[in-house]
Amino acid sequence: MPARADVEQAVAVLRRGGLVAFPTETVYGLGCDVTNVDALARLFEVKRRPRHHPVILHLASADSLADWAVDVSPAAKALAEACWPGPLTIVLRRSARVPDAVTGGGETVGVRVPDQPLALALLRAFGSGIAAPSANRFGRVSPTTAADVRADLGTDVDVVLDGGPCTVGVESTIVDCTREPPVILRLGGVDAARIEAIVGEPPTRSLAGEIAAPGTLPTHYAPAARVLLAAPAEVAAGAADMIRDGRRVGLLAPRPLPADLPAELVVLDPPADAADYARHLYARLREADRLRLDVLIAVPPADEGIGAAVADRLERASAR
Ligand code: TXA
Ligand code: MG
Repeated sequence: MPARADVEQAVAVLRRGGLVAFPTETVYGLGCDVTNVDALARLFEVKRRPRHHPVILHLASADSLADWAVDVSPAAKALAEACWPGPLTIVLRRSARVPDAVTGGGETVGVRVPDQPLALALLRAFGSGIAAPSANRFGRVSPTTAADVRADLGTDVDVVLDGGPCTVGVESTIVDCTREPPVILRLGGVDAARIEAIVGEPPTRSLAGEIAAPGTLPTHYAPAARVLLAAPAEVAAGAADMIRDGRRVGLLAPRPLPADLPAELVVLDPPADAADYARHLYARLREADRLRLDVLIAVPPADEGIGAAVADRLERASAR
């Protein structure tokens, strides 16, 4: 656990309008004071992110929700009660206190309470909301370690709090609670079955390809290597063909690995299960680039639980 001095320094940086990268259970966030419009402008600049993309408001607890959101529906209250702190972002009607830069000019704000001790310590010590997108440049793979953040953002970030590797590894689930029934805008750390159980009715899923949450564009989450999705039975022959064509080919597949793999295939450390897959997904995509793979063949996990979020990110990574 980093010293309290690190948190105090980070709070001082936030107070003077600086940018602080911090761990959450999902991915690292790049945070600033949610009420400071100059800091928000710099945040978008550093991310190289279009201005109309909203950012998530992070809070220490649901207690201050009424300061930032209005018309909080019973479904939203139930979700907050059941899932916070945790990997769930709830989209609500914003209060007048939320700057336009945070909402992308819209009337809603996405809010979440992260389940990470250092993030919570930072939020409590700061005593207000922190606006934070994932701490990567626009279109790059999200960071799951402090080293990933430094490698991507360098000196553009004033402080990087190091809380070790993220425990969930893919971003939060986003649920729009301004609609009835609520709509899942992005799959993530909380699965659809859990949302349904809490809300008491099936949530709608926004259709694949539809830009439900600006920023969940298909080109997101992609490494430089071309990602090809495959069923286990297709891997050996497909890999052999591409290797014969002179390409450098890697494989990301959960255990047990497919049979008869060509010797030249670069096999990335296979995830043990869906949660392990989620935790290491982005590190493996970065590794694919470090190894200068031309192609990464990916076998998605079963499309259930956290596996559905992994499958979603792999689909996006392959959709270029
Ligand atoms: O797990 C996470 O959610 C991480 C950590 C740092 O909390 N954050 C994250 O932020 O993934 P970002 O900015 O990379 O992705 C947030 C997504 C974007 O696609 C954005 O468009 C969407 O959330 N979003 C934010 N506010 C929204 C709103 N009011 N309505 C619809 N979508 C919203
Ligand atoms: Mg992001």
